[in-house]
Amino acid sequence: MSLPPGFLDELRTRITLSAVVGRKVTWDLRKSNQGKGDFWAPCPFHQERNASFHVDDRKGFYYCFGCHAKGDAVTFLKEADKLSFLEAVETLAREAGMAMPARDPEAAQKADRRSLLAEAVEEAVKYYRLHLRTGAAAAARDYLARRRLSPEGQDRFDIGYAPDARQGLFQALTAKGIAADVLVDAGLCARPDDGGAPYDRFRGRIIFPIRDARGRAISLGGRAMDPNARAKYLNGPETELFDKGRNLYNIGPAREALGKGRPLIVAEGYMDVIALSEAGFPATVAPLGTAITADQLHLIWRLHAEPIIALDGDKAGTAAALRVIDLALPLLQAGQGLRFAVLPAGMDPDDLIRAQGAPAMQKVLDAAQPMVALLWARETEGRVFDSPERKAMLDKTLRAALMRIQDPSIRSHYGEEIKRLRWELFGTRPTRRPFVRGAPRAQVTLPPAASTRISTLAMPGEAAVEERLLEAVLLATLIRHPGLISRFVAELESVDLLAPGHDGLRLALLRLSGEDDPAQTEARIAATEAAALETLFAQSHVRSAPPVRPDADPELALMCVAEAFAKLDARRGARREIADAAEDLTGLADEGVTWRLSRAAAAMQRTARSQIDDAGMGEDRAALSRGLQSLIDSEVWVKKKH
Ligand code: UTP
Ligand code: MN
Repeated sequence: MSLPPGFLDELRTRITLSAVVGRKVTWDLRKSNQGKGDFWAPCPFHQERNASFHVDDRKGFYYCFGCHAKGDAVTFLKEADKLSFLEAVETLAREAGMAMPARDPEAAQKADRRSLLAEAVEEAVKYYRLHLRTGAAAAARDYLARRRLSPEGQDRFDIGYAPDARQGLFQALTAKGIAADVLVDAGLCARPDDGGAPYDRFRGRIIFPIRDARGRAISLGGRAMDPNARAKYLNGPETELFDKGRNLYNIGPAREALGKGRPLIVAEGYMDVIALSEAGFPATVAPLGTAITADQLHLIWRLHAEPIIALDGDKAGTAAALRVIDLALPLLQAGQGLRFAVLPAGMDPDDLIRAQGAPAMQKVLDAAQPMVALLWARETEGRVFDSPERKAMLDKTLRAALMRIQDPSIRSHYGEEIKRLRWELFGTRPTRRPFVRGAPRAQVTLPPAASTRISTLAMPGEAAVEERLLEAVLLATLIRHPGLISRFVAELESVDLLAPGHDGLRLALLRLSGEDDPAQTEARIAATEAAALETLFAQSHVRSAPPVRPDADPELALMCVAEAFAKLDARRGARREIADAAEDLTGLADEGVTWRLSRAAAAMQRTARSQIDDAGMGEDRAALSRGLQSLIDSEVWVKKKH
């Protein structure tokens, strides 16, 4: 629709910008000069304490010196209230007492059609809400109760239930006078290929209404209660109303809840959003069954300068994070970044809150890392940089990533940070500031590199024995619980096993991923690694280790495997540090070596204290740490200054 010439100018002169903006901000009256129409406030578009947001009433323009947001009254309403251009103009015109010109018929028709569809979706929401209270929905109510979704929470999110009927909704809504075409176009019903009567899309599912920023119902999501259902979640199709890539679940309530320094959380799914909201994190959104899009990133950046992406602590979650990084790099600007919160392995926010409560979730959020940390971890984690060629390759990859950042200032800050991290990894001089506190993922864990130096310097005999046992029990546990293999593929791929025969078993296990019968597993391994297998189970302390025993609890086995990998990783990381330090002896040695070694020792002590020892996995757990500590204390490598 086109506005008549001069309409916007007239509107701008009638509107006082500070009056429009003043509803959203608190003016800093000391800094402002009201008489001159000169106003300052903390910016409503990014988190800050200072008043860098400037409104000039005479020009009718605002500008933020922090995040560079700028515009006029129309832009302000568009951004602050997430209105479309015309909605913003309409709102201002109403305030200014100006009549809106008649809409052009085509646009009006389109808008009417959309309202019609939205009304149909709203009717469907009501219908499903009612059905959650019927006798047929007893199982659904039980299910929700089991998931600890209180009746109040269900009300807040308008949760409903779609009965398992082919045309339940169709009949109820057509009886109310809603046309079949409207039901189909709204994505509520589908037409069979043979052209027969439409049927309900959602059947036997818990219903989550999806609303746009203004609260209009635009689609539905449905979770199957039957674990064998073809899709766990079914989302409404794209319609004139519903563009999956441009909407976010819970965007309206999240927007309202923002402010007061609250973070904006981006979770993966419906149940996470609800669990987080109910646990006191109401500023949470989620994409709608697709990977996050650039449009969605822009949407969340309009709400918050640095949203926290909360990802499941599994492979899919990590992969999703890495994809988001690639998507976000070219879009970064001053005042629009991302942080990443990594959930404990195998948990999503909903699981974590249910198991450990809101404080545990808060901790995870507090440990969220800036994107640069993830970028660094992605390129370095699990790799060894023990040659100039490898270091150069790393530099090249990182440079390529940095080049994708369009904003020159951000790019240079990323460069600085990467340089610092690079120093931490390769350099001998420590930085004063600890990098990313409390988040285990941030620590770049280096896998072992075979080197003669390593074994002579850092492998006290007793520790070597203990370590072989640890490897043996790890392998034997996986053979007895082959179902676990698929969960540890990455660890199995990168772990470096020292004892003879163990590497062959490791490779055999990797080839077996997918097998879950222990007898079959043993037989298949025996086909290629018979001797190593025999040696392994010939050791009585391996056979009798709790996770290896035939009646072992699978949970215990899982825990032991995870612990063993962590322990091996930490030990080898520590030895790697020592080897590096030893190499540094020939060059410049300074207090940085001590610093790096003590860090390695601390990491080892942390894993040495873990429960695996209580499961009978070795007695002399501090031996290696003690060895390291004595090396550190004696400072053998420090070159005496003349
Ligand atoms: P998850 O599989 O992580 O499920 O999917 P969840 O959110 O933990 O669900 P619960 O706890 O088992 O109920 C995350 C999101 O991915 C989309 C949904 O939006 C879901 O919330 N998804 C998942 C689908 O669209 N279809 C599916 O089959 C599965
Ligand atoms: Mn879940």
